[in-house]
Amino acid sequence: MNTSMIHRDAWVEIHLDCIEENIRQIRGHLPPATHFMAAVKANAYGHGDTQIAKLALKSGADSLAVALLSEAIVLRNQGIKGPILVLTPILPSNVDLAIDHDLTLTVFQESWLKEMRQYKKSTTPLKIHLKMDTGLGRIGIREKSEWLEIVSLLSHRDVIVEGVYTHFATANSSDPTYYHKQYARFQEMMEWVKEAGISVDYYHCANSASSLCFPENALDVVRIGVAMFGIYPSQHVKENIPFSLQPALSLHSKIAHIKKLQAGDFVGYDNAYQAKGEEWIATIPIGYADGWFRCFQGMDVLIDGKKMPIISKICMDQIMVRLPSKYPLGTKVTLIGRQGEEEITLYDLAEHIGSVPQEIPSMITYRVPKIYYYRGEVVEIVSEGNGNTKQSYALR
Ligand SMILES: Cc1ncc(COP(=O)(O)O)c(C=O)c1O
Repeated sequence: MNTSMIHRDAWVEIHLDCIEENIRQIRGHLPPATHFMAAVKANAYGHGDTQIAKLALKSGADSLAVALLSEAIVLRNQGIKGPILVLTPILPSNVDLAIDHDLTLTVFQESWLKEMRQYKKSTTPLKIHLKMDTGLGRIGIREKSEWLEIVSLLSHRDVIVEGVYTHFATANSSDPTYYHKQYARFQEMMEWVKEAGISVDYYHCANSASSLCFPENALDVVRIGVAMFGIYPSQHVKENIPFSLQPALSLHSKIAHIKKLQAGDFVGYDNAYQAKGEEWIATIPIGYADGWFRCFQGMDVLIDGKKMPIISKICMDQIMVRLPSKYPLGTKVTLIGRQGEEEITLYDLAEHIGSVPQEIPSMITYRVPKIYYYRGEVVEIVSEGNGNTKQSYALR
């Protein structure tokens, strides 16, 4: 690895082979004609949007999904050519920007369609997927009356209704009751569309959990996020699929400083930790501005294949760890991932902070460089940025 591209001892490693294999396994689990839409929103759940979008399309994904217009434009500017669905509503005034970048938008409000028409100058029709709210209670058409209001606006030639979709609230749960209720409601809504004489190419509803647990309900397209990154949507899903997912991401640093404390010595802001006896304390150069937030206080890191506790308060750029003995400067520290027999998983961290595993990689900030591996080689390094500029070195 050419380390001159990285200017600090904290980095993420992403194994693209794992993501490729996860896509292969998930595809193999679904009816063969099912389209695979790779969800790469939020910088591909922290894994790097451009890199994962390229890999997903190369590994057989048919299209991409992002949350924001800006995320889609970044992908287009990076030369990504596949179809992109923007999952959240954009500003009506940005409609031509979306058309110019050949994007497909999520639409569910009559008022949005009317307002969009005041701004649309492009003669190219706008591609849309209609969003139905079958019970998540977030965005979408809920009632037939709302549907009937919007339907007359869909016959204009300036829009092409390519798809109709919904999103599940509980597909990862061991109790399938609500999932089935939402699925049945979506079937009713699909009838509304057919009754209105609107013919669409894609009906879709399945996220990772639904695709894995109910492949028979995949419809035309699945929208896969977490599972692609090797993260199980829940323990229930893990126990009910016939293959395993490979986690792609790990996070590492190195011991930057080490000192011996005497009983009574303090460590960290607010004197939050006091040594009980002679103790070796290491300082690791990663902190809350890197995404290692204070909620991780009390977690362990791995050093020399053993768990060692983070002590005191997490600082902006550094954390302190108690060691059983002196270790050399530069010793590798793993914050997410495996060392020998021990592992700190996204599930451990999620449990500690009372969240879901995919929140953890999404928290890692632009300050942490990313190293991409494929077939045993480093293929790309995304160097740490300053928030505005991100330097990327494509090696192959
Ligand atoms: C509308 C929509 N579809 C698909 C996904 C992907 O879901 P998952 O990461 O559970 O596969 C998301 C993510 O939250 C989403 O909001």
